[in-house]
Amino acid sequence: MDSKSKKYIRLYDQLKGLLEKSPHLIAQLATINAILYHKNQGFFWVGFYLLEKNRLFVGPYQGPVACQELAYSKGVCWASILKAKSIVVEDVEAFPDHIACDARSKSEIVIPIFNSKGQPLGVLDIDSDKKANFDESDRAGLEKIVSLLNPNWVDQIE
Ligand code: SME
Repeated sequence: MDSKSKKYIRLYDQLKGLLEKSPHLIAQLATINAILYHKNQGFFWVGFYLLEKNRLFVGPYQGPVACQELAYSKGVCWASILKAKSIVVEDVEAFPDHIACDARSKSEIVIPIFNSKGQPLGVLDIDSDKKANFDESDRAGLEKIVSLLNPNWVDQIE
């Protein structure tokens, strides 16, 4: 197993212990952000965008000030929701209609969040100031971390 995969196992175990103590939406999102932002070099912005009546608004995050709302169907976050899959972008400038909230962002990964009926609720979005900072190990590790979110609140939000 490579060192990145081992790191994600450690992060998952730590977050599992923390999230079990706080089955509250904002508490869980904020805790995931804090751990991911401070324990990963090159994670320039870590946060959530949450769907509300088919609009995508920024939720808790760490990093520079970000776009508060993402225009419908544009950019990586909407692509992840509309395609219902995680997206790894090695070079944000090569992604059609990428939304640049901060010019320092060079690569990005977006993980969608679903309720138990498979309906999308939002995304976890991470930006790096290095090109090609994310790969399949990040995708697998982050999808597992997102699966820790409390299914009770995940099912309440529509
Ligand atoms: N780049 C994202 C917008 C959000 S920022 O990265 C914080 C996108 O294209 O959807």
